[in-house]
Amino acid sequence: MLPEDRIREVEAANKEASERFNPMRIPRTLEEALGNRTVLVTGGTGSIGREIVSQVLRYKPRVVRVLSRNEYNQYAMRRELGDRGDLRYLIGDVRDRDRLMRACEGVDVVFHASALKHVAICEYNPFEAVKTNVLGTQNLVEAALNYNMELLVGISTDKAVSPTNTMGATKLLAERMILSASQYKGDRRTRFGVIRFGNVLASRGSAIPMFIEQIRQGGPVTITHPQMRRFFMSIPQAVELALKASLSARSGEIFILKMPVMRIIDLVNALIRIYAPRFGHDPQAIGVNEIGLLPGEKLCEALMTPEEGLHATEFDDHFMVEPLSPPDPAKLKLENTGYDSESQELLDVDGIIELLEQRGLVEQFLTGMSS
Ligand SMILES: NC(=O)c1ccc[n+]([C@@H]2O[C@H](COP(=O)([O-])OP(=O)(O)OC[C@H]3O[C@@H](n4cnc5c(N)ncnc54)[C@H](OP(=O)(O)O)[C@@H]3O)[C@@H](O)[C@H]2O)c1
Repeated sequence: MLPEDRIREVEAANKEASERFNPMRIPRTLEEALGNRTVLVTGGTGSIGREIVSQVLRYKPRVVRVLSRNEYNQYAMRRELGDRGDLRYLIGDVRDRDRLMRACEGVDVVFHASALKHVAICEYNPFEAVKTNVLGTQNLVEAALNYNMELLVGISTDKAVSPTNTMGATKLLAERMILSASQYKGDRRTRFGVIRFGNVLASRGSAIPMFIEQIRQGGPVTITHPQMRRFFMSIPQAVELALKASLSARSGEIFILKMPVMRIIDLVNALIRIYAPRFGHDPQAIGVNEIGLLPGEKLCEALMTPEEGLHATEFDDHFMVEPLSPPDPAKLKLENTGYDSESQELLDVDGIIELLEQRGLVEQFLTGMSS
């Protein structure tokens, strides 16, 4: 039996060795991960960034910094959340390296949610999409390495999977820049992770408010293609995954929430059934106008390629794609088809109505319209 002093010595040596082996010291709870930390949310005034800010504040960070360009949006958010000592608003553009370096001083954790996200707008302004989504992300990765931050989580999109448009391609590059930083970060402690979202219900600029407005006016509702299928998730659900990933990320992983798939025509029919009577219209009288797919738009989206599927671990509510090292030969035997909206079971109109009601979105969509 060893004397107590010797036991303590051996335990300390073991702890030191395990920390040397795992210098990232992955926290086990969100309190541990975010408590007393300085957290930066780029795009913190956007639909997703704002929810990230609200959820992070629950875990008692030292301070949350919100970085975005438009001063009115920061003013409105400050009015809504009130003046509080643990929240700071920074005007800045992620394209501006000097500004970003300054904003990142003392930061431990970053959630990177600023982006140009509209397919058609990025198609028409491709150089601007590259500046914000690619160069902006490069600036942030460099800042994370420069300050030896603990964690950088990038928010990405299904459009980055086998991209067919400029927006998706720039987001794919952003993903790769974040993930590959794990390979050359040396002995820095920074953990890098990416989260891919499907379409976020009720986010700023989503098609749903436009559909509801068209229903209010008595129709017709404009859709691109009736067979278009999309993954849908709610903002709180999306952000919960983002925070959860901040715990699981060792470095270099992609996180993907499992989520329902809808045909756009079923979503529109559900919205017509819900809202037409509220606006005094007969649901049967509301027509649907098809305009065809927009440039770069896909009929179905994927959240994970079959190749990534070979590196993925499936959990109850999400997948985690590990860094793309040679795949485990045992997994190669599995029939793995990735995760796409074509192969998944569809929610029907009744199912969509139930989901919107359950998540409290029916009223929320109307509130968003009036603000
Ligand atoms: N909404 C969705 O359905 C969806 C789906 C999948 C993935 N995503 C991803 O989620 C992220 C956030 O999307 P969102 O729906 O929250 O978008 P959003 O509502 O349009 O918000 C974007 C945010 O980024 C800021 N921003 C834009 N350009 C900037 C720049 N150059 N420098 C600094 N800040 C900038 C905007 O504020 P200012 O304009 O004031 O700068 C705003 O705060 C994006 O990466 C998007 O690709 C969204």
